Amino acid sequence: MSNTANPIWSILGAGAIGSLWGSYAQRSDQSTELIFRDRRSLAAYRQHGGINFTAGAKTELLNIAACCPETIKAPIQQLLITTKAQQTLTALQAIETHILPKASLVILQNGLGIAEQVQAQFPHANIYQASTTEGAYRPQPFAVVHAGRGQTLIGHANTKGLTPQLSSIAKALSFSPLAVSPNSNIKAVLWRKLAINCAINPLTAIYRCRNGELLDKPAALAQMSSVVNEILELSKALGLDQELADLHQQVIEVARATGNNRSSMLQDIEAGRETEIDAITGYLCQLATKQGLSLPCNQQLLDEVRRISPQNHH
Ligand SMILES: NC(=O)c1ccc[n+]([C@@H]2O[C@H](COP(=O)([O-])OP(=O)(O)OC[C@H]3O[C@@H](n4cnc5c(N)ncnc54)[C@H](OP(=O)(O)O)[C@@H]3O)[C@@H](O)[C@H]2O)c1
Repeated sequence: MSNTANPIWSILGAGAIGSLWGSYAQRSDQSTELIFRDRRSLAAYRQHGGINFTAGAKTELLNIAACCPETIKAPIQQLLITTKAQQTLTALQAIETHILPKASLVILQNGLGIAEQVQAQFPHANIYQASTTEGAYRPQPFAVVHAGRGQTLIGHANTKGLTPQLSSIAKALSFSPLAVSPNSNIKAVLWRKLAINCAINPLTAIYRCRNGELLDKPAALAQMSSVVNEILELSKALGLDQELADLHQQVIEVARATGNNRSSMLQDIEAGRETEIDAITGYLCQLATKQGLSLPCNQQLLDEVRRISPQNHH
């Protein structure tokens, strides 16, 4: 059993990724605590008896320690944030008073723009950003399937470089077989990932197709190419173009390599859930506006995805 009195990591957002990290922590006997939204979801979790964790052919019920904002006992020193990007600030507000001023906050998400807002909310905290290509999904509530192996990189949100603290945080989050590697320029990693997501995810949501099927649709390919040109133009204005050499080629390769995948944006649309479009294409368009640039093709995809995902409010 875990030691619930003194959790090493609190996990905010017990969805696919949060449950994945929590499950491997539990399996390696590390103490973690899942923070649920409210008393109701905590009670439902307790009634379920834990997280049904599937990796390979094996499924087991893991009784990971859990709480909700009203039942948090110990002050939070280390927090892994695995909500969707647009859910982050609301989720953090609910537990704000429990977070120690100098806590370590790790944002493990797609999308950009959130870390700056978290830093403003917690000015003395050590903020880290992480990016993963591990694949996980929730077949039903309180269940997670580890569907694909990948890599996870972590870096300081505000500075470049490697530090002993970063190495120890990376090690502390490497619950076997998950391996988290320190990265000296995580913003560049996230920028590349954002660019690739902008070029693939909205189009899969609009055409309702798997990643690889975009390559067979001339209209989608033309839009993909315009999206990439606009991102390269913006990257140049921001001095980030060296991070994106070969972006055209890379996007095609990712669409091909993940050909059979249904993107998370497509899955969200089909399930009637809010998408992460605002932290992906929305963030890109906002940055462009600040630079005095317009990105008509990206803006069109942003408008279209917002239109077909009724739960994104503006
Ligand atoms: N899944 C993957 O394979 C994968 C891979 C790479 C990157 N990512 C990124 O990782 C991030 C998380 O993705 P995910 O797939 O794990 O999403 P997810 O399954 O939707 O998980 C998000 C979790 O956050 C919870 N949450 C939302 N608001 C909350 C609040 N106020 N308080 C407490 N919990 C709250 C949600 O609770 P409810 O269940 O109650 O809504 C849900 O359990 C995203 O940025 C995603 O793009 C995911």
